[in-house]
Amino acid sequence: MKQSFKYHSALKQIRCNEDFPEIEYFKKGKSIAMFNDLTRGLPIEFDKCDVFYSDPPYPAGMNYFNKKSNIQTKYNDLMIAISNIILNKNKPTIITNCKNAVKFFPSPNQILKIKMNSSEVYAYVFNTEIDSSLKTNIDIINYLACKFNTIGDFCCGYGLSGIIFDIYGKSFVLSDYNKKCIGYIKQKYENL
Ligand SMILES: C[S@@+](CC[C@H](N)C(=O)[O-])C[C@H]1O[C@@H](n2cnc3c(N)ncnc32)[C@H](O)[C@@H]1O
Repeated sequence: MKQSFKYHSALKQIRCNEDFPEIEYFKKGKSIAMFNDLTRGLPIEFDKCDVFYSDPPYPAGMNYFNKKSNIQTKYNDLMIAISNIILNKNKPTIITNCKNAVKFFPSPNQILKIKMNSSEVYAYVFNTEIDSSLKTNIDIINYLACKFNTIGDFCCGYGLSGIIFDIYGKSFVLSDYNKKCIGYIKQKYENL
């Protein structure tokens, strides 16, 4: 199945310049998208997820995302928050990021080199194992959608992970500290 999706990127060449309304909370059946700054904790809504997948910013993207959300956070604090989720929630978790991100995390079960938007990134796999032949972020999310019921993505951007789960008839819990990302997701479902 050929799939094409909008992606919230700090990279100039693929930035989306459209504007979206600021929304704090959106519910669609069993699925939720909500505003949340992860450095302040993980909302209770994520308890029902059976898998976490997230694609947090690279260090170089932090200023761009902070400016867009109007919230100042630090890359290191975000990585520490994610590391605590991996350790404390103990759920199957896949995090994509740069090579250096590994120093913030507990020891991964697998590290896959994959492509995301044509760039090479690392997929760190915790508390589970996945098919090591997967080649892209989209492959990984499709794979997870076949195995799990509810994905949790706490740096969701425009909600690619949740939208793929929805296509499979599964549900999502998504959050981002940029209310316009939640506005995009709400608009996407209301305009279907
Ligand atoms: C690379 S983008 C994710 C793109 C996403 N996979 C998509 O489908 O569009 C990283 C996201 O992390 C979000 N983010 C950065 N710091 C955050 C924080 N402290 N809490 C929650 N979200 C954060 C940014 O707003 C941005 O949407």
